Parts: sequence; C-alpha cells; structure tokens
Amino acid sequence: MPQLLTIIAHPQTTKFSTSIELYKNFIESYKSINPQDTIIERNVSDNFKLTFDEVALSIYNKKQTGASLTRRERTINATRQSYIDEFVQSDKYVFVNPMYNFFLPAEMKSYIDLIMQIPSTFEYNDQNKLQGNLHNKKALHLQSSGDRFHSANTQMESLDLGDKYLKTIFDIMGVNDYQSVFVEGMDFDTKNAQNILNSGYRAVQKLAKVF
Ligand SMILES: Cc1cc2nc3c(=O)[nH]c(=O)nc-3n(C[C@H](O)[C@H](O)[C@H](O)COP(=O)(O)O)c2cc1C
Repeated sequence: MPQLLTIIAHPQTTKFSTSIELYKNFIESYKSINPQDTIIERNVSDNFKLTFDEVALSIYNKKQTGASLTRRERTINATRQSYIDEFVQSDKYVFVNPMYNFFLPAEMKSYIDLIMQIPSTFEYNDQNKLQGNLHNKKALHLQSSGDRFHSANTQMESLDLGDKYLKTIFDIMGVNDYQSVFVEGMDFDTKNAQNILNSGYRAVQKLAKVF
C-alpha cells in the first residue's frame, strides 16, 4: 500500500495555525479516499534534533573517505539513516509550513540537509551530472504566508524562495510531480482571511482526490 510522509515545520501550539489547518483539511479528505494507505507524520519543529552539527559533519566527511566512525557516530548515523530510509520508502510527500522570512522554517531546511544524502536520494553520474534516485513519487507543498506571492504580481512570486527551493530539491531527487497550495495574504487582508482560508480548504480537498 502507498506510504504518505508528512513533514510539518510548525511547533504544536494552542494558537490557531493556518498552515496546520490547511494540512488537516487535506489529510482528512485524503484518508477518507485512501483508508488503506500508511500515513507517517513528522513535526520537525518538535523534538527533532537532527541539525547538521559537528557530529553530523564528521559522519558526512568520514563517509566520503571511507574512514571508520566512532561508536557515538555509528549510533547517530543509524538514527539519521532511519529517517533517510523512511523518506526513500515513501511514495508521497506533503511538506507543511508557514513562510518565515521569504523561506522555509530552519527546521525544514535541516530536514532537507538530512535526506539530501548521496546516493540514497541523488548522486552524480559518470558524466558528473546530477541524477535523482527517487522515481514514481509525488510531492505537495502546503504553505501559509502573511503576504501574497502567487497573485498576478510576478515580482512577489520571485520572493517566495522556499517554494522554489523545495521544488528544485525534489526535482534533483527525481520527484518532478510537484504541486503547491498556498493560503496567503491573511495577515494584511484580515477582512478576507476566512475566505482565503476557505478557498485553500477547497483546493486541498479537490487535490486529495487525485494525489
Ligand atoms: C518569524 C516569522 C517570519 C515571517 N516571515 C514572513 C515573510 O517573510 N513573508 C510573509 O508573507 N509572512 C511572513 N510571516 C508571517 C507568516 O508566514 C504568516 O502569518 C503565516 O500565515 C503563519 O502561519 P501559521 O498560522 O500556520 O503559523 C512570518 C512570521 C514569522 C513568525
């Protein structure tokens, strides 16, 4: 059965979160249509301490040269590898985040640093060309932002660095079936905030039928 992996970069708070509500709307619809699928949810903002620190860098460098890992490095490497395996074994990806400073939250970037692992997800081929090692998979990006980036104003669109980056990263790994749903502008257009959110809910419910 297909496995859907969700990566959320938003701490669990009591305050209403538009990005998480958008995701909840998507996943409830998705589950009702695909009750047999396996769904794994990881919130990388909560207790997910796998930043690219001194140990991670040492593991990375030693793996390049084939040097042996210390016992501590072996333990940490096994944990890191289990997340990479989970990613590789998944068929569908949903990345959920609020925009922070025109980009993804730092924890989501750390997660990407973890799974962008040669040769698990991509590598360089004999001609030194990038080669994605994931096939027949699809990705969905759900993002909430205070301002509007995806209206007719193309200047604003170029400032959504997070979505562009995520799409590029998936493309490098071989996942070119990539879609995004944005709920945006609610911080400024407060009168229309509920309408903006409702139209996001409709978009993800429609998408859940074909994702
Ligand atoms: C640290 C921080 C940085 C933010 N940076 C941006 C930004 O660059 N552009 C933008 O439009 N909104 C920005 N926002 C606003 C959030 O993206 C927006 O309020 C979003 O809807 C919050 O989603 P949530 O309700 O799921 O927390 C920022 C908010 C925070 C807390």
